[in-house]
This record gives sequence, C-alpha cells and structure tokens, in this order.
Amino acid sequence: MTHVQSTIHVGTGAFARPAEQSSAAVPRSMRYGFLLAAAILLSTSCSHQHTTSSEPKPTAFGAAIVESSGGKQVGQTGGLLPQPVVVQVNDAQGTAVAGALVEFSAAPDVVFDPANALTDSSGQVTTNVPLGGMAGRYQLVASTSDKSHKKVELKIEEIALGYQQTLGRRLNDQYCERCHNPESTVERVSNYDNLEVKPHPFTDGDTLNKISDADLTAIISHGGPALNKSALMPAWGNTLSKSDIQALISYIRAISDPPSRNAGPVYAKN
Ligand code: HEC
Repeated sequence: MTHVQSTIHVGTGAFARPAEQSSAAVPRSMRYGFLLAAAILLSTSCSHQHTTSSEPKPTAFGAAIVESSGGKQVGQTGGLLPQPVVVQVNDAQGTAVAGALVEFSAAPDVVFDPANALTDSSGQVTTNVPLGGMAGRYQLVASTSDKSHKKVELKIEEIALGYQQTLGRRLNDQYCERCHNPESTVERVSNYDNLEVKPHPFTDGDTLNKISDADLTAIISHGGPALNKSALMPAWGNTLSKSDIQALISYIRAISDPPSRNAGPVYAKN
C-alpha cells in the first residue's frame, strides 16, 4: 500500500474512524487533533439524534414519499455520497406537498445533513449522506406522516466500498469500462458499439452472480476462451496481479444488482 493510494479516502477525514488515521506517517499532535475532531463530531451527532426540539413543525401532510434522485449510488466507507439524496412528498393525487416533515434514518454511524426538514415549494427535501465506516449496503429510510399521523416510509439503498473494492473500481475504470460500459465519458470513449459480442456491465447481477469466483478469475486472467467465450474479452493475467484480480472480483460482487450472495452485510437502522 502506498501513500498515494491511501489519500483517496477523500475529503471527509472527520468521518473516518480514529483508528484509520493513526498511521505512523501522521505526527502525534495531528493524531490527537483527529481524535478530538472525531470526538466532537460524535458528541454533536448524538445530541442531534436525541433532541426532538430542533425538529421543524410540519404545516402540511402528504400521503406518499418517493425518491427523486440519489438512490443506488456507489460511495466509499466513511465518505460522502457523490450526489445528495432527494425525496419528494406527494398527496393522494400525486401532487407535490410543501411544508411536510421528512425525517431520515439509517445505521447509527450515518449522520444525515440535515436529518430532518420540511419539504420546499416543489415538495422536496435534499440531504447529504456520509456513509458509515463499514463496507456493504446501507439502507436509508426517509419517512413522513400522513394526516392521521400514520408513518409513510421510503427505503433507499446505497453501497459503500471498502479499500479492496475501491482499488477494484479504479482498475475497472482503467482497464475494463471502455468495453463493459456502453456509455462514453469525457475521459473515455466507449468501445462497446464496436464489439461484435457484447460484454455485460458489472452491475448486471443476473449474469455476473451466476459466474463463480473461480470462473471470474479464469476469464479475467486468461480471456474469453477460458470460459468458451469470445476472444474479444482479452487476457489480463500479464497486466494485473492476482490481488488486482481479487480486487476486481470483490468490486464486481459489491455492485451487482440484484445483490450477489457475497455482496456483504446490509446496514439498516436499529
Ligand atoms: C476490449 C474489450 C474488453 C475489455 C477491455 C474487457 N472486456 Fe471483459 N468482455 C469483453 C467481451 C466482448 C465479453 C463477452 C464475451 C462473450 O460473451 O463471449 C467480456 C466478458 C467478460 C466477463 C464475463 C461476463 C460478461 O460480461 O459477459 C467478465 C467477468 C469480464 N469480461 C471481465 C472483464 C474485466 C475484469 C476487465 C478489465 C480488467 C475486462 N473484462 C475488460 C470485452 C472486454
């Protein structure tokens, strides 16, 4: 592990567990700084969750809560999700309701910013979500109350990649996406349309979940013919190390939809 790699635990150092920060390269004084920052953060987040006095008073009630955007994102443990989560409260006719109270909850180490708010004039609430410190799937719950004070809930799932999976994601961006992802980006032109045999996106759980770890290792190391598939799938055994290939597989398992049996635990509110 080099230092450059560890810096991709982006931006939100304050959310990382203190243990992760106490690397030998960090001066002692800074280490205590991190601990202090983490302690302050923990204490403020706790008081936030337990006081209800800061909760705004709803001026209206809806009948349903739906996701506008921000579900099914892939982030990193302890990092902020790339996009905020946006939900909308509607009445029974499907019209947006302004002034309804929305509350967010999830596993205890997910601290929403904000954790509750009234819907704006378009019926929406936007919250930023730092994922917890454990890799896996996080189930977020957004709730509102209807006129009869019945709770209406919406469940949203997000994925937090651990260290090895994040490495796998980077290798995927570098070596695999140009064929396995039909969409082009500014940095990468997709080669997908030129391929006579079409590869699958790695989120395609219906396909990828049926391939064992051993077979994934074989096709990635030795190319398509290893599984009697097209030679348009190159062999990577000379380019990538065994642990690189392992990292790619753990990334593929982490993002599959439907989830693979190896996708890891689901963290929900308790
Ligand atoms: C030059 C294009 C190309 C690149 C780059 C590429 N693949 Fe593929 N891959 C293919 C094609 C084409 C298939 C489909 C083969 C078939 O179905 O006969 C495939 C199939 C696969 C499969 C079997 C599941 C599927 O999608 O059908 C896996 C797993 C796979 N590739 C992994 C990888 C990994 C990991 C990388 C990066 C290290 C990678 N591929 C890079 C073209 C590519």
